[in-house]
Formats: sequence, structure tokens, C-alpha cells
Amino acid sequence: MTAWDALAAHRSGVPVFAPGHVWLAGAGPGDPGLLTLDALAGLAQADVIVHDALVDARVLALAGAQARLEFAGKRGGKPSATQADISERLIALARAGARVLRLKGGDPFVFGRGGEEAAALAAAGVPFRIIPGVTAGLAALAAADIPATMRGINRAVIFAAGHGADEDFDWAPLVRAGQPIVLYMVMHNLERIVAALLAAGLPRDTPAAVIASATTPAQRIVISTLQKLAATVREQNIEPPAIVVIGEIVRLREKLLAGSAAAEKAVT
Ligand SMILES: C[S@@+](CC[C@H](N)C(=O)[O-])C[C@H]1O[C@@H](n2cnc3c(N)ncnc32)[C@H](O)[C@@H]1O
Repeated sequence: MTAWDALAAHRSGVPVFAPGHVWLAGAGPGDPGLLTLDALAGLAQADVIVHDALVDARVLALAGAQARLEFAGKRGGKPSATQADISERLIALARAGARVLRLKGGDPFVFGRGGEEAAALAAAGVPFRIIPGVTAGLAALAAADIPATMRGINRAVIFAAGHGADEDFDWAPLVRAGQPIVLYMVMHNLERIVAALLAAGLPRDTPAAVIASATTPAQRIVISTLQKLAATVREQNIEPPAIVVIGEIVRLREKLLAGSAAAEKAVT
């Protein structure tokens, strides 16, 4: 039985993409193996795929032959479409009868402005559905062998954006929570945010990791401490997109890697 057959058996058919509908889907962090079957169904049936810069080329290569790709995001130097332009474009395409796959890196509702697009579609009366994706914060931790939660170490995980409309964001309550912090979009503000976390009382030797281009061939993982983090990133020329994770869970990586090396030895 193929995966499609199995999906059809459990869902009374594979999801059918109706003309005039928009599917707002997550493409995951890069590796096409992390796509959901519903996102794949969208890629196979869409007439138009409106995608962001962070959607991996290997994912776009899975589009059906009939699909037209439209880029909607930031690309070096050129003026980028505004959020309003993108929402209007989705509405116009759907009203013209297209099956529109709006494909975003990671999960559309995690720092992806999927909420605004869904609200615009709802206000325009365009039928849509949301297909979640593997968010970069979780994928990057998995790629780096860092468990997001571990009994006895943490009972919450904080996902935070390193930049946004509120640049005077108060980091102190996050530090007081005493839980690991996973930062998105942080590379350009790293020094400032590290300084704020230190000022709020997070110890200088708190372990920290940077995972850049997670699950792609360009993936890089760097382990450091809060105090040395910004210098390490500079010295090692780590480029976005990257996830930064700060907290005791980072130490678990060493244990997991030591364990898997021992297991490999036992097998060979
Ligand atoms: C606009 S946010 C989009 C997040 C996305 N919606 C998600 O759920 O992953 C872009 C940020 O996601 C993170 N990111 C996306 N893809 C990544 C990857 N493959 N590796 C590391 N970080 C990634 C980076 O922090 C980047 O600055």
C-alpha cells in the first residue's frame, strides 16, 4: 500500500483541492522529508504556488507539472511585496478560480504571518484551510540532537522572535521563567538580545547553540555559552537563517551524541 492509499483509507479519500480555494501550508524547515502528506497533496494539485524565500528548492521541485510558481518574499536588493500585496494576490488568484497553495517555511502560524493572510482570506470570503508544518525551532533542535523538553530539566519551552515591531521588548519575564529560550530571526540583533538576557540575570555560562540552515545541505551547528555566543557566531561566519537556543537542554546534546557513537560502535 502506498502512502497515498494509506492516507485515502484513513481519510475517506486524499484531500481534494477545490478551484477557488487557498491552502495555507507549512513547507517545514528545508528537508522535503519533513513535509506533511497534506502539504504534498497541495503541491501535487495546486495551479499556483505562492511561496516564500525560505521554502526549499527541493520542496518546490515536488510541485505538479501544471503548477506555476510565484515568489512572494524578500530577495536581495529588490523591493519585496508587502503583506497587503501578498494577501490581495492570494484573494485575486482564488477569485479567478485557481487552486492556490500559499507555501511558507516552517509552520505558517509560527512567526510566519499566516495569521494575517488567513484573516484577509476570511474577510474576503475566500475558502481556505491551514496545513501546519514542522517549525524551524523544533526541527533545528532535533537536527542538533537537543531535546526540546526533558523531564527534570524543563517543563516549558519559550519560542521568541529576535526582531519585530516592538524592539523595546522586555526579556526579563522570559529569563525569570527559567525555561529554555528558542530564538527565531535573531542573528541581526544577537548582541543586543544577549546583553538584555545577561542584564536580566541569565548566567553567563548558560549553554547556547546556533543551528543555521537546519535540515539543508548547508546546515551548521555551533555550541557556545550565552556570554561567548555573539563572538562565536561572528568568528565562525554563521549566516541566517538560524535558530538560537539558550538553556540547560543544550547540554543534553553531548550525552545523546556520546550515546549514539557508542551504539554505532556496538553495531560495527
Ligand atoms: C519569518 S521566520 C519564519 C518561521 C517559520 N514560519 C517556522 O515556523 O519555522 C524566519 C526564521 O525562521 C528560522 N528558520 C527558518 N528556516 C530555518 C532553517 N532551515 N534553519 C534555521 N532556522 C530557520 C530563522 O530564525 C529565520 O530567521
